[in-house]
Amino acid sequence: MSIDISARFSGLTLSSCLFNASGPRCTSSGELLELYNSKAGAVLSKSATPGFRVGNPKPRYFENQFGSLNSMGLPNEGIESYISIAAQLSNKAYIVSIAGLSKSDNMQMLRRLQKSGQAVDAVELNLSCPNVPGKAQIGYDFDSTKALLEEVFQVFDGKLGVKLPPYFDMIHFEQMAAILKAFPIAFVTCVNSIGNALIVDAESESVVIRPKSGFGGLGGDYLKPTGLANVRQFYKRLPGIPVIGVGGVKTGLDAFEYILCGATAIQVGSQLMREGIDCFERIAFELKTLMKTKGYKKLSQFRGKLKDG
Ligand SMILES: Cc1cc2nc3c(=O)[nH]c(=O)nc-3n(C[C@H](O)[C@H](O)[C@H](O)COP(=O)(O)O)c2cc1C
Repeated sequence: MSIDISARFSGLTLSSCLFNASGPRCTSSGELLELYNSKAGAVLSKSATPGFRVGNPKPRYFENQFGSLNSMGLPNEGIESYISIAAQLSNKAYIVSIAGLSKSDNMQMLRRLQKSGQAVDAVELNLSCPNVPGKAQIGYDFDSTKALLEEVFQVFDGKLGVKLPPYFDMIHFEQMAAILKAFPIAFVTCVNSIGNALIVDAESESVVIRPKSGFGGLGGDYLKPTGLANVRQFYKRLPGIPVIGVGGVKTGLDAFEYILCGATAIQVGSQLMREGIDCFERIAFELKTLMKTKGYKKLSQFRGKLKDG
């Protein structure tokens, strides 16, 4: 029995629904080419800023058996580099993530992407970005999110999805969904890391990463139930808008659970960092094996069909 784990969304076709999350192993041209030559169904860039950034001092990444903590400080090659490599990635969906440090940074990058024509297949706008000082990050400031999206769609008419931070309150799911519904959003990616978490090393009585007094974004197993909840909430609230699931995907079983909650495709972050690009083939094999056991031939047979009533 042949098992199909391909995914189609917003005019993109992925031979596998599994691809990389923005951040781990997708910063340099070499890393993007490795992803292109792997079994990942698409290639997503590290979140770009207008120019090159070296990022925060190290150690800025930590992992244990439950997941990861990072405060990378957006080290990236700059938007030009992520546009110019597109020509070498032409046989797979190539998505560029952008994370301006201000609204004008984001608008500058979107104007540049608009001018580049079809070079890039889609853009993932990272809303876990700094806002004006004294205000929450954009994704937690609903008025700023709305104002940003209003400007975004005035200058950019390509495929644009948003990467959301995790939400924890029903009213926030409702408010964010109401905003997103008003725009031609190509996809919604849930979730970014849980912000400002702290891991303590009792032996050394110290924090585990150097920037921000040890506070950083939490990923991996720690994040999975929150990721599943956010995918489920937005899948139900945004009919017709594909939801991409991310957070703690290590195995085919994790991917299956995300699809059951409604995910159209799945991104892998911390596990890609740990295992390298071979994770895509392994997780795909595990997902296909599980589907075979359950008698499913394609993802649409169980996508969103979590029994919750
Ligand atoms: C080292 C590292 C760097 C990251 N950088 C970004 C980034 O630049 N843009 C972004 O949207 N998310 C970034 N993330 C968040 C991931 O894309 C992902 O949302 C999060 O790690 C949850 O997935 P996971 O549990 O599979 O790691 C980063 C995560 C890690 C671990």
